[in-house]
Amino acid sequence: MDTKSKLHVGLLFGGNSSEHDVSKRSAHNIYDAMDKDRYDVSLFLLTRDGFVLSDEASRRVFDGEDELEVAAEEQTKVDAANPLAPIWNLSQAKNIDVFFPIIHGNLGEDGTIQGLFRLLKKPFVGSGVLASAVSFDKDMTKQVLTAHGIRNTKYLVLTPENRADFDYATVQAKLGDNVFIKPANQGSSVGIHKAGNEQEFEDGIEDAFRYDFKVLVEQTIDGPEEVEISILGNEKPLASKLGAIRVPKSDVFYDYNNKFVDASGVTFEVPVTLPEDLTKEITEMGLQTYAALGLKGMARIDYLVSKDGVPYVGEVNTLPGFTNISLYPQLWQATGISYEDLIDRLISYAMNEFNYQDELAYDFIPLDDNSAASTYKPKN
Ligand SMILES: Nc1ncnc2c1ncn2[C@@H]1O[C@H](COP(=O)(O)OP(=O)(O)O)[C@@H](O)[C@H]1O
Ligand SMILES: [Mg+2]
Repeated sequence: MDTKSKLHVGLLFGGNSSEHDVSKRSAHNIYDAMDKDRYDVSLFLLTRDGFVLSDEASRRVFDGEDELEVAAEEQTKVDAANPLAPIWNLSQAKNIDVFFPIIHGNLGEDGTIQGLFRLLKKPFVGSGVLASAVSFDKDMTKQVLTAHGIRNTKYLVLTPENRADFDYATVQAKLGDNVFIKPANQGSSVGIHKAGNEQEFEDGIEDAFRYDFKVLVEQTIDGPEEVEISILGNEKPLASKLGAIRVPKSDVFYDYNNKFVDASGVTFEVPVTLPEDLTKEITEMGLQTYAALGLKGMARIDYLVSKDGVPYVGEVNTLPGFTNISLYPQLWQATGISYEDLIDRLISYAMNEFNYQDELAYDFIPLDDNSAASTYKPKN
């Protein structure tokens, strides 16, 4: 294939969440898996301070140079007085055909970066602004799930304004003795606490409010089986086999420590064999969730399954991990789609979605103007 017909991909990674380093590993793997006869790849590292590094500088960090040092050097090259200085290096993006953001959490999964791609008029892998933002906010996600009759845990939303109305006894009466406390817009179990008494409740709420002005207090699913599914595609998405995550002790949940500090006791079962009915129900709930939220490209959906075998949708990850041991690609491998194939498909879904959206008019068209004949047609 000659250079001209190669697709130029902008791979964005990093970000300012606790998954900054995970994102780097995800990006490394995606980069390595891309067929360089078919793709030219530019790298854009978003530093923890929110500065996008050039392709050349991002590559140096990719190759092991210290991120802070490279970033400091790069910042001297842009005009700091320019309000677009933090994203200045994206001006190289004019030659890019499609962006592949693999920034987990804040700025990556919450609709922010997707809004930037819209402004740049570029296709991008994954969900759009609205679906990303709604799926990142655990309260909004649950509101959509509930409106669509998709099972999720009972919960309350605490804000600085209503905080005083909810003491432990009030919450206990509504949700039971044990509750989960979580910031609405976070990930990686950051700010999440299990509380079974007043002190734990007060401490948990205080910590959660450090991360968000909206805090969820949820009914606990006791000793849950944690099950995951990968979904891939746009209008007619595919569902993978299921996987399970097991944490060592029954009194510990899948917390920050288990995820990032000492994951030695955590085991993944990919694929996991569950009773046929349960497998079917989880798969259907996954596809319903994907459609209800308007997700595109991909998502990993996590469930909590109670001891009596009832599945609850836990949360939705719109840009899930892509490391060697990440569940999203592993579940596809177990289902028969290789890592390389997965990347190819994601890029082509991005192009399709962009072309489809591009048919829409944004300005008023008089009814008698036939020059823009109706483009309405069901997709696929
Ligand atoms: N309602 C709940 N009942 C039981 N365990 C829960 C509940 N909510 C969360 N957990 C535990 O906390 C972990 C993190 O919660 P989750 O909602 O997935 O947040 P995050 O986005 O930070 O991963 C879950 O993987 C699970 O171990
Ligand atoms: Mg989770």
